[in-house]
Amino acid sequence: MSAVDALQGRRVLVSAGPTFEDIDPVRFIGNRSSGKMGFAVAQAAARRGARVVLVAGPVSLPTPEGVTRIDVRSAAQMHEAVLAQLPADVYVGAAAVADFAPAQAASNKIKKTAGQDTLSLTLVRTRDILADIAMHAQRPRLVVGFAAETDHVEAYARGKLENKRLDLIAANRVGVEGGGFESDDNTLAVYGADGSAQVLGPAPKTVLADALLDLIAARLPG
Ligand code: PMT
Repeated sequence: MSAVDALQGRRVLVSAGPTFEDIDPVRFIGNRSSGKMGFAVAQAAARRGARVVLVAGPVSLPTPEGVTRIDVRSAAQMHEAVLAQLPADVYVGAAAVADFAPAQAASNKIKKTAGQDTLSLTLVRTRDILADIAMHAQRPRLVVGFAAETDHVEAYARGKLENKRLDLIAANRVGVEGGGFESDDNTLAVYGADGSAQVLGPAPKTVLADALLDLIAARLPG
């Protein structure tokens, strides 16, 4: 059976985009994710015959054809929406999920006062969607994470692969021109729990999505 056939009829769950963590009714903590990488994975999987559910943070991208989309805003909402979609054969966590969120969003706009030079916010850890999926009783056959790093890319990615008990992790350097956040192109270094390592790209995210799905398909039992 070819690698493409391995995704046919599989249930593939993808997260994409940023999360927005509200500070008050007019402000939030967000990040630079455009959703392009995750949407490309969802689109490529659907084209290969997978049944795809895409849980998307706040982005302005059209829904890929044949994909069921669930829109969320915060990390907590994304956690709930993703886990509610289990069981699945494959989970690909391409979303840039906030690691910390305000302990409580103020119900009214926070006002500055005369002479105030600083403002402190208490942030609390969000729940790790990827790790929770990987340790879930209904764990997908393949759990694939991304690692967005500015430095020590391989070491940090391998740490996440092991600590979060993933099958594959696609590491990308962020904060550079021509890749990572917002760009149409990217380069992925994909590390496997089986010891494999492969560099994909540089290439358009649409091309990388298919290359990543080839690695996933090759690991799905026929
Ligand atoms: O959206 P684009 O503009 O196309 O940019 C693509 C991208 C840079 C966002 C993408 O390629 C990428 O790297 N996505 C992961 C971003 C990220 O949050 O990386 P991280 O190293 O902080 O997190 C590691 C993994 O844990 C990720 O799979 C993330 O989805 C997951 N995570 C993190 C925190 C959390 N609370 N829950 C999670 O599931």
